[in-house]
Amino acid sequence: MKNYKIAVLAGDGIGEEIMAEAIKILKLVEERNDVSFELMSGEFGASAWFNTGHSFPEETKKICDQADAILKGTIGLSHEESKKIPVDELPERGALLPMRRRYDTFANFRPVYLPASLAHFSPLKPEIIGDGIDIIIIRELVGGLYFGEKETGVNEQGLRYAREMLEYDENQIRRIVEIGFQTAMKRKQVLHSIHKSNVLKSSVLWTDIVGEVSEDYPDVEVVHVLVDAAATYLCLNPGQFDVMVMENLFGDILSDQAGGILGSLGLMPSACVGPEKSYYEPSHGSAPDIAGKNIANPYSMIGSVAMMLEMSFGMDEEAKNLWKAMQSVFAAGYSTPDLSKPGVDVTMVSTQEFGDRVSEFLISQ
Ligand code: IPM
Ligand code: MN
Repeated sequence: MKNYKIAVLAGDGIGEEIMAEAIKILKLVEERNDVSFELMSGEFGASAWFNTGHSFPEETKKICDQADAILKGTIGLSHEESKKIPVDELPERGALLPMRRRYDTFANFRPVYLPASLAHFSPLKPEIIGDGIDIIIIRELVGGLYFGEKETGVNEQGLRYAREMLEYDENQIRRIVEIGFQTAMKRKQVLHSIHKSNVLKSSVLWTDIVGEVSEDYPDVEVVHVLVDAAATYLCLNPGQFDVMVMENLFGDILSDQAGGILGSLGLMPSACVGPEKSYYEPSHGSAPDIAGKNIANPYSMIGSVAMMLEMSFGMDEEAKNLWKAMQSVFAAGYSTPDLSKPGVDVTMVSTQEFGDRVSEFLISQ
């Protein structure tokens, strides 16, 4: 029997309640397969800061170091609460970015998936959605402006200024672009390279590298799109995209927009893949306004479990079953109050009940 160690970092806000559903699913996966999971919980995020004075405590680092994969919930506080924590210790800068750097999780996969069972959540017109949306956004996750040198001060004119560096070397670009091509090979052999080469030198280098790497993938058609135009096309004709690859900040912004065309960031799981370790997380924040109410949809958290099963543990079939089970829950007319739109005929269930329905559909397969 295979045994995997999973670091479980529930985090802040709705993290705890959606993670509980993910764990429920993991237990069920254990029962159905020749596999066992050792779950090791760690504190992470603002709650960790309040409890230990660190948002990514040493103890948690040790747990993550030992784990085969990391399952992370959500982090962050409301604007008001955030003021209680020093700026550099806030969970985004103090925990999440250090985690990405520690494990060099450079390849961030964000599926943007809208099958018929979810179509009513989208703000797009049915004729734009067509047969549904099925895109993978691949975002570089450990470079660019996020990790460049930063400086703040007062300049010679006495004005406060901030300066941050956008820097990529060719290796950093090549490794993410290669992931883009490999992913395109497994899908429709079309790769959209997103950049801003009419202004940014980093995008000129990016585009050069895309050209070089494309020689190794003659079967993949490359489509170059400026990032601002890509934002428009995502709304007007998302069906033209299959695999999109881009640098860190562009990926941050376009993936949230993609969540918008699905109707909610709650439908956006993700995988953050490094050379040795990967972690899995919803693409959204901790939604402090609805935390503890048992109304947050666990789709993005359970979807992250599906991605972990496939990408870290090679359990492709079970991952597919899990996706299918989640779609079936929506297709059967269930939703949670955070997602459903007024006027849509749905049976409203709680976070827990949604997880139960997913379990039932999984068992029935
Ligand atoms: C995301 C988030 C993070 C990011 C924040 C929380 C730092 O928005 O994963 O997209 O900007 O990368
Ligand atoms: Mn983001």
